[in-house]
Amino acid sequence: MLIAGNWKMFKGPDETAPFCHALRNADLPEDVDVVVCPPFVSLAPAVQALAGTEVGVFAQNCHWADEGAFTGEVSASMLKELGVYGTLVGHSERRQYFGETDKTVGRRVEAALAAGLDVIACIGETEAEREAGETEAVLRRQLAVLPQDDDLVVAYEPVWAIGTGKTATPEMAQEAHALIKSVLDVPVLYGGSVKPENAADLFAQGHVDGALVGGASLDLESFLAICRTRS
Ligand code: PGA
Repeated sequence: MLIAGNWKMFKGPDETAPFCHALRNADLPEDVDVVVCPPFVSLAPAVQALAGTEVGVFAQNCHWADEGAFTGEVSASMLKELGVYGTLVGHSERRQYFGETDKTVGRRVEAALAAGLDVIACIGETEAEREAGETEAVLRRQLAVLPQDDDLVVAYEPVWAIGTGKTATPEMAQEAHALIKSVLDVPVLYGGSVKPENAADLFAQGHVDGALVGGASLDLESFLAICRTRS
């Protein structure tokens, strides 16, 4: 089981350090891999506070070039230099608001893996796509740019479930995860309004290998409750 907390644009360095120290001292189940994904400016304090622990620090994005004239971007090698363990790529908010495409997702994933970062690549359909019966085609299209790699994890995040309080039913997650696993032999996380109250039902599905948690990962107690959830 892998539980990753996607902090999005929350928690600056001042808030990150005490949060990560508390996480460091918390009792985490040994069979659960725990990851936090702070904003870029908070990566250094997170790496520092969690040094020597099993908790992984991931970025939320990384560029495909090693360096260059790409204002506002950060490269995989820079993240490595900082002691960051991995990165999210292709989150739906990047796709929706920042022009991320399947092609750029593919390039970012490839560069991150080549630099030695682990990658959680995010895919998922919008509500309109689901209603139009296009979920499978959309997921297949988004998966087509991802390589088979031991350091790759896919997060299935239906866009309509992110930050909305609407969770996919455990059966919907299971069905989408089965499709993803028929294309790539990788662990698959579910993401979209995961909370302590719904985690057990989701984790009970055989193809759900963990969760990418947004809102509920910002509060230490609710994040810990999800990490400690048994299906
Ligand atoms: P949420 O976000 O848990 O707040 O719905 C999940 C995500 O966007 O990764």
